[in-house]
Amino acid sequence: MTSPNDLAWWQKTIAYEVYPKSFYDTAAQGTGTIAGITAKLDYLQALGVGAVWITPCYKSPMVDNGYDVADYYAIDPSFGTMEQMDELIEKGRERGVRMVMDLVFNHTSEQCAWFKESRKSRNNEYADWYIWRDAKEDGSAPTNWRSIFGGSAWEWCEERGQYYLHTFAKQQPDLNWENPEVRKALFDIANFWANKGVGGFRIDAITYIKKPPVFEDGPADGEDGLYPVHAATANQPGILEYLHEFKAKVRDGRDIFMVGEANGVAATELDQWVGADGVFDLLFEFSHMHVPMGEAEIWCRPVTWELTDLKRALAASQKATAANGWYPAFFENHDQPRSTVNFFQCDGPLAAKAKVLGAVLLTMRGTPFLYQGEELGYGNATWKGIGEFDDVQTHAQYDFAKSEGLSDEAALAACTRFSRDNARTPLQWDASENAGFSAARPWLPVHDDYATCNVAAQEADDGSPLLWYRRLASLRLATPALLAGTWRELMEDSEQVLAFERVLGNERVVTLANFSNEPVAYDSELVAGLSLLAASEGIAAPGRLGPLEAVVWG
Ligand code: GLC
Repeated sequence: MTSPNDLAWWQKTIAYEVYPKSFYDTAAQGTGTIAGITAKLDYLQALGVGAVWITPCYKSPMVDNGYDVADYYAIDPSFGTMEQMDELIEKGRERGVRMVMDLVFNHTSEQCAWFKESRKSRNNEYADWYIWRDAKEDGSAPTNWRSIFGGSAWEWCEERGQYYLHTFAKQQPDLNWENPEVRKALFDIANFWANKGVGGFRIDAITYIKKPPVFEDGPADGEDGLYPVHAATANQPGILEYLHEFKAKVRDGRDIFMVGEANGVAATELDQWVGADGVFDLLFEFSHMHVPMGEAEIWCRPVTWELTDLKRALAASQKATAANGWYPAFFENHDQPRSTVNFFQCDGPLAAKAKVLGAVLLTMRGTPFLYQGEELGYGNATWKGIGEFDDVQTHAQYDFAKSEGLSDEAALAACTRFSRDNARTPLQWDASENAGFSAARPWLPVHDDYATCNVAAQEADDGSPLLWYRRLASLRLATPALLAGTWRELMEDSEQVLAFERVLGNERVVTLANFSNEPVAYDSELVAGLSLLAASEGIAAPGRLGPLEAVVWG
């Protein structure tokens, strides 16, 4: 039996993702700052947060909001200075809140000094640091791969007379991990940050780093004649060797954690990726996120799903990490639409939906990863036209939808439903102008309902999502079974209720979350002998849940 004493610090805390551009602006510039995170450490601590994943804040031309890094050793001036970053790391550490840096190592920005050299010729010092190939005989791209953001994954470079590969935007050339000098340069960067005392790393887009031995065309899957690059390159044999090297050179001997972003790793393969023999401590895999969006993640191709699909995906991940490894529980991040929209197919108040998801997240086995604003119960934003979106992927998905024959309205509707910008609007702190986020006009609009949906208003409202998240966070941290207990699904076949129990010795906690907007009756034996610890709508009784109500018994 595991007890909380056997767990590492990052297994018994709550993690929170900050998208710094939209968190809090201390510089009256309309975009958030590093000092803004320092200023809000109290807020994070009130949610029980001990690890703060900050999405990339390195020097960047910001084509993909920092996921195009120009200099991994510098903070982008829009966010502040290295001194401010050091101060954040230090002030956080003093309070037991560790910063987690985002390492973008599949690619760099085209503005990175390495790429600027690499593109000059075929025989300079950095010539082999990226993935360069000759054109086909007719001058066209080496393969018909479609980048994840749409369009060809190859870009022609006149200077060098070759194409380079970009899994994401053309301003994000892929690094060549086969080259040991590249790997050394990347591990040096990670060590530089680890030496600053950060608590861990989130490793971006890691399943794409190893390319196949042969580059070949694939069968077109859209009107553009292209084949998805990830189908050709993701999770290639041999990738784990690189990652073991990464772990040995960066992670080993340090009290930090590494969480990989690993699209394309199935729940059944998790044991090779996490745990004692794996390469990471935790792994973001996306099987449950694919349920409402589809595996191909093509926004204009609707998928149908039922609650049991979501439950099966979550249960598979729980089972895979039960014996080995640790699960990062999440429903949102900066690449997803808001979870209150994503995971419900019924009408009903967003606040109630947020509380249902919060109950699941904060009582699951694993480390909960909250994403900024999730605790306030945001919905998606209101978008009036494609021109209002900032996100490079949203524009690419819009163009793809149009190439598939969709009308402007239908393409916009798909973007409104799934755009990553839904998660990137400013955090709403109070009812003042710009929602207290900034003294200047924010880079993305605040929500229409910001005057009521904000931190200050929710702190004063006992029924608010924010106070529910705080309450359950405290409950989690004080309840050994919620930290270290086993996980077992209950009511597997229900299309309305997601339910599970956590057990540690004699302690048993049961979570029941009603995803439908109708009352539900269930077998009260499931909670026999337990007391009601929390009920999100105050309607529940043994054997009965209100519409969109979540409860925790223990
Ligand atoms: C990851 C990031 C995403 C980014 C992409 C390219 O998926 O989470 O925001 O666009 O990698 O770096």
